[in-house]
Amino acid sequence: MASWIKVCETKTLNNGDMIDFDHDDKKILISKVKNKVYATDRICTHAYADLSTGFLNEDDITVTCPLHMSRFNLESGKPENLPAEDPLKTYSAESRDGWVYILI
Ligand code: FES
Repeated sequence: MASWIKVCETKTLNNGDMIDFDHDDKKILISKVKNKVYATDRICTHAYADLSTGFLNEDDITVTCPLHMSRFNLESGKPENLPAEDPLKTYSAESRDGWVYILI
């Protein structure tokens, strides 16, 4: 059953930030763009690359994989260009009472 997991204090996550968050065997990318928090799987669906070492694009709310440059939409998880074809898993995320939570 899914439950809300506390990630970090809201004040430590600024617009344009990406942070790693590991929970059980999940490697998750937490990011913040335009005051909205996003959570997706952190490992690229094309090959093994950690997206937290990629580039956050605030204009189109995507993260660019550092290895072959696929861009993933942080809201939907879908890749916007090849070579990645499969979406990242996404998680609900919210900020409340001074903390960031994700639903896992
Ligand atoms: S490993 Fe990410 S696009 Fe190839």
